[in-house]
Amino acid sequence: MKDGYGREINYIRISLTDRCNLRCAYCMPEGVELVPREEILREQEILLIARAAADLGICHVKITGGEPLVRRCCDSLVRGLKSIPGIRTVTLTTNGILLKEHLQELKDGGIDGINISLDTTDPERYRAITGGGDVARAVEAVHTCVEAGIRTKINAVAMREDNGDLLLFARDLPVDVRFIEIMPIGFGKQFRPVDNRRLLDAIRRDYPGIVRDNTKHGNGPAVYYRIPGFRGSVGFISALHGKFCSSCNRVRLTSMGYLKTCLCYEDGTDLRKIVRDPELSEPVKKEQLKRAIREAVLKKPEAHCFDAPGAITENHLMASIGG
Ligand code: 5AD
Ligand code: SF4
Repeated sequence: MKDGYGREINYIRISLTDRCNLRCAYCMPEGVELVPREEILREQEILLIARAAADLGICHVKITGGEPLVRRCCDSLVRGLKSIPGIRTVTLTTNGILLKEHLQELKDGGIDGINISLDTTDPERYRAITGGGDVARAVEAVHTCVEAGIRTKINAVAMREDNGDLLLFARDLPVDVRFIEIMPIGFGKQFRPVDNRRLLDAIRRDYPGIVRDNTKHGNGPAVYYRIPGFRGSVGFISALHGKFCSSCNRVRLTSMGYLKTCLCYEDGTDLRKIVRDPELSEPVKKEQLKRAIREAVLKKPEAHCFDAPGAITENHLMASIGG
């Protein structure tokens, strides 16, 4: 499906819940208000929306949160999504804390890749960033995931330029380590973003052999590099200093069933209203969903406005949007 600027939209990020078992300072620190449970989409409602989206050409799905694994239905949702005709890949973004218990189910369900959020391997810093998290569990999740033969990536929101510890994952394991520039959404506004170009310079000083890697790694905007002797790659997601909106391929479904067409703005359409309309049969719901999705995609904004923060109309937290 093409948007109003001719971009092919084939990727949806589905936030399963705004809840999380961690409290990262830039995402949902202690004390944030949660969405009432009944306002959050149920598994079957998500699957119906996904079937409508698949009919329109959406073929890649990422499940996000909050923390998606705090919802009991996460594993069966993966299986359900994988069985929808037209859906080619289903991947998951998790903080890894609960991953071990779910890994076999996810693998059997056909998961195509897992992204683990891990900003540092230093136990003290990890505890400080995540509001008390145990880094050993997140690190273990990376190893278990790789051992299970699942394509694994590490997502790090860089808070400083010294990230040598994370690079060692890419040296020793076939994983992509990706540095994400913090975006001014929700509590992210309170942090000064680290410029990915400076991170790359710092890495280049330690590893002068680093070179661009133009092979395809996924469906997103990350730019990858290889370091000689490393098993994995190093990636940069530079929302602020490397605007990638012209190749944007995605829409987002919030846990409340709102289809967002750009991270930066409130633009979009309420799909929950359709899936919960008691007057409509399922086939009619699906047709209405398709029409609503198509119309919203046609109005997808051309680019984000993080360089002009006054223009940001999105006031929700990252945890309810899904990153
Ligand atoms: N900017 C960039 N990334 C963010 N995340 C949460 N909040 C922000 C933000 N403001 C990241 C988490 C995790 C993913 C789900 O989103 O660190 O990797
Ligand atoms: Fe939870 Fe991820 Fe947000 Fe941290 S960044 S609070 S792990 S959803």
